[in-house]
Amino acid sequence: MAKRLSPLHQPLHHDIQGEKSVQTAYTLDVLRKQIAKLGADGSTIGLVPTMGALHDGHLTLVRRAREVCDHVVTSIFVNPTQFGPGEDLDAYPRQLEQDAAMLEAEGTAVLWAPDAAEMYPNGFATNISVTGVSEGYCGTDRPGHFDGVATVVCKLFQQVLPTHAFFGEKDYQQLAVIRAMARDLDLTRPHVHSIIGVPTVREADGLAMSSRNRYLSKDDRAAAATLPRAMKAAIAQIEAGGDVPQNLSALEAELISAGFSSVDYATLADSASLAPLTALEGASARLLVAARIGGTRLIDNMPVG
Ligand code: PAF
Repeated sequence: MAKRLSPLHQPLHHDIQGEKSVQTAYTLDVLRKQIAKLGADGSTIGLVPTMGALHDGHLTLVRRAREVCDHVVTSIFVNPTQFGPGEDLDAYPRQLEQDAAMLEAEGTAVLWAPDAAEMYPNGFATNISVTGVSEGYCGTDRPGHFDGVATVVCKLFQQVLPTHAFFGEKDYQQLAVIRAMARDLDLTRPHVHSIIGVPTVREADGLAMSSRNRYLSKDDRAAAATLPRAMKAAIAQIEAGGDVPQNLSALEAELISAGFSSVDYATLADSASLAPLTALEGASARLLVAARIGGTRLIDNMPVG
């Protein structure tokens, strides 16, 4: 009987030229061996945490990680603890083979793809809760979401021991929570020297790329482009000295008239603390918006000033 290869040694996609395939680790034991090999000569390791259903936004993170680091480890784990009751955990797209092929084409060295039992073994009892930046905005609309994110990202850092980690600015509040968590738990040294935020990648009509965009019907997808357009218009007014609350109300009204069913928030916030601002006053600011269309919740953010 042929010897059964461990998951680590099963190339998902054979390259006829003999180039390296992405190595997929499904268990922590296998991942640790692979990481030890990658880092043995002092090489830098860039971690790109994802929940899969990869699009060009994720691949941009991988490309950035390849520019900065010697090796890239991408994780794919649809993290149940960051989904609330009634959210789309079951419906969340899962396409591991397709994702692995994309990661291989982008030169990812290791794909870390644990299942829920590997990530949260029986008896798992720890929760990381970051106060301050996790409060308000998505923290209000999705209670417990950022605890789930902080806990799994902390575990990913401990599992992969990356020198750098790459996150999209599209999830701006998430990035702030992760930076705070890494700072407070001393994760930024010696392992994660740098948490690197990568600018949002957008579709041709300006809609921020998201795995959830595929939930949109054709009509809703067309209407969704109003979100970045209306945000840009509000920013132009605010930067020109326009009243902040008035322009935020106008932005909300425009979204509703374009077909959005509700606006969870549309706020001008300090870009570091995320404290709401009612005027620009020279602050480094960010416009943060979450709005729902056809049952899908879209978020976006842009710099202001
Ligand atoms: O942004 C995501 O895809 C997820 O929140 C993350 C950072 C991979 C944690 O599960």
